[in-house]
Amino acid sequence: MTIQTEMHNVRGLQVLLRPVQVEDAEATLRIVGDIAAEGGMFLIIPAELRTAEQQRNVLAGISPNDAFIVAEVDGELVGFVDIHRGHLAKLRHTATLGIGVAAAYRSRGIGSLLLLAAERWARQVGVKRLNFGVFATNERAVKAYLRCGYQQEGCMRRQIREGDQYLDEYWMGKWLGDDTDPQS
Ligand SMILES: CC(C)(COP(=O)(O)OP(=O)(O)OC[C@H]1O[C@@H](n2cnc3c(N)ncnc32)[C@H](O)[C@@H]1OP(=O)(O)O)[C@@H](O)C(=O)NCCC(=O)NCCS
Repeated sequence: MTIQTEMHNVRGLQVLLRPVQVEDAEATLRIVGDIAAEGGMFLIIPAELRTAEQQRNVLAGISPNDAFIVAEVDGELVGFVDIHRGHLAKLRHTATLGIGVAAAYRSRGIGSLLLLAAERWARQVGVKRLNFGVFATNERAVKAYLRCGYQQEGCMRRQIREGDQYLDEYWMGKWLGDDTDPQS
């Protein structure tokens, strides 16, 4: 399923959504690295980041089961969402996702735009359920997910070790089928 390149006006900001390219390796790594360095939001720590070459290889090998969409403002890559569909037959109707927006561009609607784009892709390929974990302390992310129709389905207590603290992780999920029809 091809991801469309499309321009959106989000609260007065022109945001281009497009499929990731191999040439985005450094820019995507920079966003992930910055978020990892901020702490409290991603599981990965800076020492665990891929090298640029590893990232290029990952981006060059994205399978049709997965999608990686980036957001650009004035030619600058400012956010991404990557989606991974379940490989096992019993999980083919599900997908997990990871999302990040550069600090200077947060709370301007770009995260919600990326979530909706991920959802569009998921629906097109037949995925019925999106789910992922989020630090319970990450209020902005939780708020963005709830606003986009995700539900907090569970809480894994002390699942994350951040510095000398144990943090809870919420499990968020969204059913994309018809909720009134169990077979949809
Ligand atoms: C989570 C993230 C992807 C959301 O993207 P975003 O562009 O900031 O999201 P949006 O602007 O679409 O929505 C954010 C919502 O949170 C609200 N918000 C902003 N700051 C907030 C704060 N400190 N506390 C609670 N809510 C906050 C915004 O007002 C907005 O809600 P509203 O539009 O109803 O007012 C982005 O903030 C991000 O990349 N954060 C760092 C990485 C991260 O946490 N990734 C997710 C890991 S699971």
